[in-house]
Amino acid sequence: MKNNNSKPPKYLISTSEFGEYTGQTANDVANFFGEKELVRLSGSRLGIPSQLAKVYLALKEGVDYGFKVLAHINLKGGVGKTTSTISAATRAVQYGFRTCILDMDSQGSASLAFDMVPEDDDPIFFDVWQNPGEMVMGSLKKIQENLYILPSSLDNGLLDVNLINPVSQKNAVHGVCEELKANGFDLILIDCPPSLGTAVISTICAADIIVIPVCSDKFSFKGLKLTLNEIFSIHEAFNLEKPEIKILYTKFDRRLKISTNAWNRLSSDYKEYLIPCPIRTSAEFSKSLEKKQTVFASSKKSKAKADYDSYVRYALKLKGHQNDRKARDKG
Ligand SMILES: Nc1ncnc2c1ncn2[C@@H]1O[C@H](COP(=O)(O)OP(=O)(O)OP(=O)(O)O)[C@@H](O)[C@H]1O
Ligand SMILES: [Mg+2]
Repeated sequence: MKNNNSKPPKYLISTSEFGEYTGQTANDVANFFGEKELVRLSGSRLGIPSQLAKVYLALKEGVDYGFKVLAHINLKGGVGKTTSTISAATRAVQYGFRTCILDMDSQGSASLAFDMVPEDDDPIFFDVWQNPGEMVMGSLKKIQENLYILPSSLDNGLLDVNLINPVSQKNAVHGVCEELKANGFDLILIDCPPSLGTAVISTICAADIIVIPVCSDKFSFKGLKLTLNEIFSIHEAFNLEKPEIKILYTKFDRRLKISTNAWNRLSSDYKEYLIPCPIRTSAEFSKSLEKKQTVFASSKKSKAKADYDSYVRYALKLKGHQNDRKARDKG
């Protein structure tokens, strides 16, 4: 058993959750890995180190760990961009993805969520994009093994005056992501500000997958329209390959008409983009934030965890998100 004396990493998948994914009992999973390799978690649960989960899922389940850049973008504020970024990152590492969060929002909400707000001298994206080879790896903050963040602070707001050349805009985020790829990361998750400044333009140029979180208010739909138009026009202007574009419906509450109406509208008007599993409203998100962690740090089952698990499975092409949805609809 590892880590007997030190605190275990917060975001490890337990043998029972892993068994739910692979169709085994927790005991089968523990026997397969061997107790020596596992980490003792709270409540006598056993956790699987991220690297081991990756080896198993790649070999036995054919999970694709090919490098991906996934960005959460919407011009509208408060729709769940940061919540989606940090929740997805902490789930992805549990599934074995060596993950880095790129905090591009000068408000630094993702950095704050992990208590990783940079000190005045700590480099942020603003300082590293011109020289990623020298700067990027030394600027990352470690959340735990296989999970890192390039934090953000107000200075990233100066990108709008510092990153004005269109060719630089096209390459800045891409260059940082390529450096992370060269250093063994599988997945980059980007949290964007609610604006259309250079940070977002450069992110749009670099992302393989763009997820637009949307909730039920009408400005959120307006944000969706503007964001889609912006993505299309940037890709046309720079002659880039189209990214995969997805819409994630957040803060879903089926008891509210406004919520079901919005879901129905998305299902008819944006069917090709809509991720079939919405994220339900839950108080777990704010409770976790208060503890400077995400919902995946908790050992308890919750709809917040179930919904973001489905989202991660869908976005990263793991198996089972539809089954989860059926199970959830019953609950
Ligand atoms: N599914 C949800 N249920 C309940 N509260 C949620 C949910 N998703 C997000 N929230 C809460 O809504 C608020 C806004 O979410 P978040 O910060 O993720 O949005 P954002 O799009 O990143 O906002 P901004 O544009 O200001 O960066 C936060 O307080 C968050 O905890
Ligand atoms: Mg945010």
